[in-house]
Amino acid sequence: SSSDGSTEEKTLAIIKPDGLLGNYTERIKNVIMDSGFSILRETITQLDEERASTFYAEHSSKSFFSSLIKYMTSGPVLVIVLQKKNAVADWRTVIGPTDAVKAKVTHPNSIRAMCGLDLEKNCVHGSDSLQSAQREISFFFGEISSGELVGMHDEL
Ligand code: TYD
Ligand code: MG
Repeated sequence: SSSDGSTEEKTLAIIKPDGLLGNYTERIKNVIMDSGFSILRETITQLDEERASTFYAEHSSKSFFSSLIKYMTSGPVLVIVLQKKNAVADWRTVIGPTDAVKAKVTHPNSIRAMCGLDLEKNCVHGSDSLQSAQREISFFFGEISSGELVGMHDEL
């Protein structure tokens, strides 16, 4: 069923402003493909303060919040819906720990080790649970039908 790796899941990835600016998109997409994810949707968007604050609402009382919002609105982001079995947990594994400085030491093959700078400017986002993934995907794309992915078919 839900997150035991036996069913297809969707998760939300974001290539953050410095990742996009630093031309890491192609390298990140290679990792996405090599790790067995399908890209279901993608869009480039410029977040404003209000949208970024809503997306990161769970962190609104944290000391780093205003700085995080400034970073996330500093340039366009590439938002991607990924799908595979166990997508939520697997994408978190592929991106590595939140702090890119630590990632370079403990998870040198992770995406955050590859292109992140520090605890804040860590280059990529990944949903932290199935529930977050569903909320975050509809935040950017509205509802996506389960049969939308090429190669998957709804019964008629
Ligand atoms: P969080 O959800 O804890 O990390 P993750 O992105 O790994 O799920 O935090 C959201 C973002 O907030 C994180 O990607 C970077 C930023 N952040 C800081 O700037 N300082 C901090 O101390 C933390 C924990 C996060
Ligand atoms: Mg998080």
